[in-house]
Amino acid sequence: MTGKIYPVSEAWSSSAYIDENKYRALYEQSVSDPEGFWGEQAARIDWIKPFTKVKNTSYDPHNVSIKWYEDGSLNVAANCIDRHLETRGDQVAIIWEGDEPNLDLKVTYRELHDRVCRFANVLKKHGVKKGDRVTIYLPMIPEAAYAMLACARIGAIHSVVFGGFSPDSLASRIVDCDSSVVITADEGVRGGRKVPLKANADKALEKCPSVERVLVVKRTNGTVGWTPGRDYWLAEEMESVSADCPPEEINAEDPLFILYTSGSTGQPKGVLHTSGGYLVYASLTHQYIFDYKDGDIYWCTADVGWVTGHSYILYGPLANGATTVMFEGVPNYPTAARFWDVIDKHQVNTFYTAPTAIRALMGAGDELVKKTSRKSLKLLGSVGEPINPEAWEWYYHVVGEERCPIVDTWWQTETGGILISALPGAIALKPGSATLPFFGVKPALVTPDGQPIEGAGEGNLVITDSWPGQMRSVYKDHTRFVQTYFSAYPGTYFTGDGCRRDEDGYYWITGRVDDVINVAGHRMGTAEVESALVAHSKVAEAACVGYPHSLKGQGIYVYVTLMEGIEPTEALRTELRNWVRQEIGPIATPDLIQFAPGLPKTRSGKIMRRILRKIAEDDFSNLGDTSTLAEPGVVSDLIENRMNKA
Ligand code: PRX
Repeated sequence: MTGKIYPVSEAWSSSAYIDENKYRALYEQSVSDPEGFWGEQAARIDWIKPFTKVKNTSYDPHNVSIKWYEDGSLNVAANCIDRHLETRGDQVAIIWEGDEPNLDLKVTYRELHDRVCRFANVLKKHGVKKGDRVTIYLPMIPEAAYAMLACARIGAIHSVVFGGFSPDSLASRIVDCDSSVVITADEGVRGGRKVPLKANADKALEKCPSVERVLVVKRTNGTVGWTPGRDYWLAEEMESVSADCPPEEINAEDPLFILYTSGSTGQPKGVLHTSGGYLVYASLTHQYIFDYKDGDIYWCTADVGWVTGHSYILYGPLANGATTVMFEGVPNYPTAARFWDVIDKHQVNTFYTAPTAIRALMGAGDELVKKTSRKSLKLLGSVGEPINPEAWEWYYHVVGEERCPIVDTWWQTETGGILISALPGAIALKPGSATLPFFGVKPALVTPDGQPIEGAGEGNLVITDSWPGQMRSVYKDHTRFVQTYFSAYPGTYFTGDGCRRDEDGYYWITGRVDDVINVAGHRMGTAEVESALVAHSKVAEAACVGYPHSLKGQGIYVYVTLMEGIEPTEALRTELRNWVRQEIGPIATPDLIQFAPGLPKTRSGKIMRRILRKIAEDDFSNLGDTSTLAEPGVVSDLIENRMNKA
């Protein structure tokens, strides 16, 4: 099955940086001579000390080591700000669009420089030094960008925690990387509702003795608790310091940030990214995949709490001197026309969002889209989960009026930047396929037991050589890094995704093959949901799986075995749902909870997730061999009482 093909238009192939011939030639060069290719590409950023060595990487499971440009030095913030001052100091760097449609702000590169330098001096004043970890727990306000860049300026390592995470989730991330400073706001505002960030942070900090300072942005002027000597208002601190802060010289392999993400086991891991290679990769992919040209207005709707916000709201665009939109709100507030209204308001040329938002807005009807102009749009993007062809077609025909190619970008927190995507002037589109690899990326498919798959076929997706944006380690746990990514298929980086390659060599991501689920584009470890549930006094055992969900892509389905004598009631379902919400955050809220007197286990006590997944998918025609189960009878009970009846 190849499906529909949308060829590259003549207008695109003649105007884009990269047309088909260039793509083929450059791709060939990039994989046959990575040193040469990445050595040249690195000239796009300013180095303080030029590197002499381009690539020094090993995927050998006994010695995984990834280094790019290792003897060079640079400053990421200076690359994103200072070097643009002469040519584009008065150009808008960030267009901030507030939650309420009448609230916005434009920040020029010169203003950004002032804010970031002051912020960096505030950090220094409060004792932050190169290599220290700073946790950022902010809403989508310009201060989030200032804070990240201020860290980069002085060589501190930021760890941004999504504002939707609970106090417990925040606490475990602060403790893991041992931050001494937390940056938060009094409250966030999303969809007209307030989020008590400072109160959450206060609660988290009860468990974080290492934190000495909390810098607080005044966003709503709401009432907050205050610990004198620990808490400081950011605005007052910014006034008290100088606007002069020379950028630190940072080695290419010094850490830029840690970002926690869910895996198939245990607690979220701290994905560690470094400075030089990451910036080269974020900037190159942003320029070519979004065909970013001077003067374009570029909008990525992600939150800076996720990697998409790091690479494609902040670092990639700003390194390229772009104008990047930062949106505080949600797609359906005040109405489901908000995205389209904002596109008109700021004359957005490139719009990059997630399939879950596209599906929700598609459900709101075409009228809301059609009453807006959207004439400024040139290019659309998708990220975070597979986009179903129906949503793709709607995005293409209704939102983009058949004028705008869609770049479906496949990547991960771990990859730092996009690995598989169309280039709008070079690669014909197939709805639902991320298409072909970016320069320097060598994807391959293997069978579950590691046999290579050549040509068309389906299997597990691995990458056989390093690219500069690749994560370098799990923070403080290199062993976990090696085990998670380099041990399943030795000699390759294992992505955790399943994938099909068609006869044209196009890649079709089929979703995770591990115990990670993708809920509305947010990555969630089933183990995290389970450990939250078993922490509840009425729960004896829990198993969590994903199931197909029409809006979210995947929904969260949990099977819960209650403690002896506890009655399974509707009220308890609500209680458990709220409990998980409170323990992890709203994004982890179970959609369906099935009370199960027993879970299917092997005789050695291992839960048979494959069976639970099938039942949650309402597909029990193919449960496989259940005869090895300790108690085969539990399966028929589970089927009988399933929550997801088709
Ligand atoms: O399963 C893939 C899915 O999202 C996972 C990575 O999640 P995260 O680290 O949170 O990063 C999301 C944003 C980069 C992948 O393993 N995924 C991401 N983009 C796509 C996708 N699946 C299909 N198509 C995509 N374009």
